[in-house]
Amino acid sequence: CSDTASTRRKNSLIKGVYPASPSSWLFVAIGILATMYMQSDPSMGLITKIQQHLPLHMSLSAQGQTMVSALVFSTLLWLSLILALRFCLKLLLSYHQWMFEKHGRMSNTTKVWVPLVRLLSSRKPLLYSYQSSLPHLPVPAIQDTVSRYLESVRPLLTDPEFKRMSDLANEFESNLGNRLQRYLKLKALWATNYVSDWWEEYVYLRSRGPIMVNSNYYGMDFLYVTPTSVQAARAGNTITALLLYRRKVNREELKPSRVPGTVIPLCAAQCERMFNTTRTPGVETDVLQHWLDSEFVAVYHRGRYFRLWVYRAGRLLSPREIEDQIQRILDDASPPLPGEEKLGALTAGDRIPWAQMRKQYFSSGVNKRSLDIIERAAFFVTLDDEEQGMRGDDPEGNLDRYAKSLLHGKCYDRWFDKSFSVVIYKNGKSGLNAEHSWADAPTVAHLWEYTLATDAFQLGYTEDGHCKGDVEPSLPQPQRLVWNIPAEVQAQVSSSLAVAQALADDVDCHVFPFREFGKGRIKKCRVSPDAFIQISLQLAYYRDRGGFCLTYEASMTRLFREGRTETVRSCSNESCAFITALESGETEEECRRLFQLASERHQNLYRMAMTGAGIDRHLFCLYVVSKYLGVESPFLKEVLSEPWRLSTSQTPVQQMNLFDLKNHPDFISLGGGFGPVADDGYGVSYIIVGEDMVNFHVSSKYSCSQTDSHRFGVQISKAMQDIMALLSADPKTSLSSKGTGQPQSKKLQ
Ligand SMILES: *[C@@H]1O[C@H](CO)[C@@H](O)[C@H](O)[C@H]1NC(C)=O
Ligand SMILES: *[C@@H]1O[C@H](CO)[C@@H](O)[C@H](O)[C@H]1NC(C)=O
Ligand SMILES: *[C@@H]1O[C@H](CO)[C@@H](O)[C@H](O)[C@H]1NC(C)=O
Repeated sequence: CSDTASTRRKNSLIKGVYPASPSSWLFVAIGILATMYMQSDPSMGLITKIQQHLPLHMSLSAQGQTMVSALVFSTLLWLSLILALRFCLKLLLSYHQWMFEKHGRMSNTTKVWVPLVRLLSSRKPLLYSYQSSLPHLPVPAIQDTVSRYLESVRPLLTDPEFKRMSDLANEFESNLGNRLQRYLKLKALWATNYVSDWWEEYVYLRSRGPIMVNSNYYGMDFLYVTPTSVQAARAGNTITALLLYRRKVNREELKPSRVPGTVIPLCAAQCERMFNTTRTPGVETDVLQHWLDSEFVAVYHRGRYFRLWVYRAGRLLSPREIEDQIQRILDDASPPLPGEEKLGALTAGDRIPWAQMRKQYFSSGVNKRSLDIIERAAFFVTLDDEEQGMRGDDPEGNLDRYAKSLLHGKCYDRWFDKSFSVVIYKNGKSGLNAEHSWADAPTVAHLWEYTLATDAFQLGYTEDGHCKGDVEPSLPQPQRLVWNIPAEVQAQVSSSLAVAQALADDVDCHVFPFREFGKGRIKKCRVSPDAFIQISLQLAYYRDRGGFCLTYEASMTRLFREGRTETVRSCSNESCAFITALESGETEEECRRLFQLASERHQNLYRMAMTGAGIDRHLFCLYVVSKYLGVESPFLKEVLSEPWRLSTSQTPVQQMNLFDLKNHPDFISLGGGFGPVADDGYGVSYIIVGEDMVNFHVSSKYSCSQTDSHRFGVQISKAMQDIMALLSADPKTSLSSKGTGQPQSKKLQ
């Protein structure tokens, strides 16, 4: 790691002068000197002024002095140009109207805007180059948010209920709301992002219940293939790939993410706390801790914890060396120390007892040293004794068990506090469990895509399934962690485990690939794939539960600096109108018309959420302000306590270029999922893979008699097919080619 300091210095220079390049200084300087040589003064007297103020008189000739002053002037000019460019880029990136324009109907502003953005953002950026040019998330006007809110709940309420809600909302808007809004605007002036710090603190870190199942989510391996069945080898390549990704993050070699198909950059701040990070429990609130160096990973196997050094004299171990080290851990037959095996359950249960235990029994001595190693590790690795994946006599049931295993495992064999834990199963299958406070799923999905692709296609395996690379014979043994766990802690471990186990046993997971069609055919019907799936989910829910419900779809606000997520309330007046018409046997033509409206509406809602005109984050922040001021708002209280019976999220595929679906069509990722959000609701996560497939992850609670993840899965498949049948029967589809409702993305490449 000797080069990291100089790399960092170099990177901060490159980043500091973006969108210009460091070498452009030379051009400015040469330009200035050349004009001076031609006897004209480009600075209009400034160079002479500088010369008078420079303390150089003794040592330099007059010509030398002029030269130095000219260089100083050039530098100042160059720096102001950079600031001006950056300011322009920020202004340009604050323009979002392009997203709402339809194919072939680009406005004149957008036509001018596109080349300008491309010009200013095209130079090869580092990971964080755009950060200072990203716009700030604007605070919407309170009237806008309130009226959007009312619109969103209209289809869910009866007339008298809606009347009552409107009265509450109007009362809020004209009184307390204004006051809260003033404070919020004040915050927006100094904060980088008016939502994100509160969101992290109040939604994640202050939550006192278990984070397992409730907050952490998982990512899965390839569906059909396992690159090797040797557990240690899979661990060797996976750990190497993750560390290669970390190196790219540290050197900022990772390309900044962009809005798919465009040059518009997204905020990269979430990468900062990906590695060397843990969430530590506190009595009132947890905190995220991050370390600037961490040259080892923590490994759990059969009740024992190990430290595995992944560097040797500054060199990253080869995949084969990591495999051998992992094999040593697998071969180690020593039993767990008393209390060691189930220690991880502390991270799975309630937060307060864990905080108390940690403070009392883990703040000194061997326990502190061992806990430090887990918390400061680059990440956590579990070598799981089970076999998982779509396998055996009951591939479908096994897929569901695989999801549950990644979501909660045995409740003590993952370290739920770590930013993420990778799990390597006995049969070579892998997966990960990620903590939610430090980042959202797209960031983790990006890491995981890279890891799967690097593992399978870059690093690869020998013919007998082992890792490649040289082995230095004298590597030290992985280090067993030492614990001295007193009876009080063991008692707490048992009760945390009981809480976690009850939670885990209640989770009903169902994962299934939908293979009838994918985004290819949906796009042929000129519908946005996400809108299609969301309306299908609405239809599935309506048929499953006989009604509509408040629906959460996660979208991101990373067009803005430090943006995280915003809610799209995807149950809309229009989607309800379509579903009611379809279910009551309206004519196909009328249904198609209503579907078109619903789909356009959905896309519009999605774009509003992305561009800072959502509903829920604004109301959430107003609620936080009201709490700070100690005032009660009946409106906000009611809004914030409404349950999301359908909570959905699309996992974006971001690096299709890393996969070669032509030659390796089986290397399809299954995506990931999360636990149920409401006690009587469904969680649905989906990933659109390639042209012909969508993978769904459904979760609910067994304890609720009204929900059943399998039944809902069947409804989703059926709804997708019914809507496709409806759209495909359209006699106009194959003929006309009018406005598509697709965003401009193609044009912006
Ligand atoms: C856009 O530009 C075209 C030609 O440059 C012009 O004819 C048209 O009126 C402009 N549209 C608007 C809305 O200004
Ligand atoms: C994490 O630790 C590694 C290894 O010591 C270090 O090089 C890297 O800078 C750290 N990462 C971050 C994001 O701080
Ligand atoms: C939503 O639907 C209701 C009842 O069908 C209707 O009264 C209302 O005007 C609609 N609202 C919007 C914004 O379309």
